[in-house]
Amino acid sequence: MRIDVITIFPNMFKAVLNESIIKRAQAKNKVKIIIHNLRDYTLDKHRKVDDRPFGGGAGMVMSPEPIFRAVEAIQARCRIKGKGLRIILLTPQGKQLDQKLAKRLSRYKNLILICGHYEGIDERVRQYLVDEEISIGDYVLTGGELPAMVLIDSVVRLIPGVLGKRKSLKSESFEGNLLEYPQYTRPANFRGMHVPPILLSGNHPAIEVWRKKAALKRTKERRPDLFKKLLKRK
Ligand code: ADE
Repeated sequence: MRIDVITIFPNMFKAVLNESIIKRAQAKNKVKIIIHNLRDYTLDKHRKVDDRPFGGGAGMVMSPEPIFRAVEAIQARCRIKGKGLRIILLTPQGKQLDQKLAKRLSRYKNLILICGHYEGIDERVRQYLVDEEISIGDYVLTGGELPAMVLIDSVVRLIPGVLGKRKSLKSESFEGNLLEYPQYTRPANFRGMHVPPILLSGNHPAIEVWRKKAALKRTKERRPDLFKKLLKRK
């Protein structure tokens, strides 16, 4: 997969993309992540990316020209068009990111992520350039950079071969709308707090049953919305 990010704050991405699993995924050529400075696609000498809103009002609006030019330059370079490519705008007005959406996005060959800013973005970008608008939750951040990083993290770990064991993907939260069961490691008795004895029994079928029950109980208590979905599926 190739992910292109268009941003006015390219430095924000350095730390996140150069650590841990995302770093390793790039080293293993599972994903190529390219950060583009939107100002490189401006045509004026001040490298201006925004302007005052038509009709008046507070704040500034991101101009369409540099964004269109950036996307067109990336498209020309990566030669992936049509179905393999998804152009995404990060905005609180978008569809909320969840595990299902991350999974769908992980199947594209190329994602272009546009990080929004200021009071907003010229509507023609949404209407004529972007395929999909995505939000990471019902709260407003200062820009689309952190949401883009959240999206990248959630998608890259789903690319086959990025995580060591496929098994670890299967049992995690939200796979099948079930939260994770409680996990314990040594010591069995920590300051008088004991690990459930069943986990020390060596009886693996019984452990599986205990884990399934614990996951269901936790889901019912904490996420009744997910629990309802589980019941519906059966
Ligand atoms: N930009 C600002 N807030 C955002 C959010 N919650 N999701 C996506 N993009 C945003």
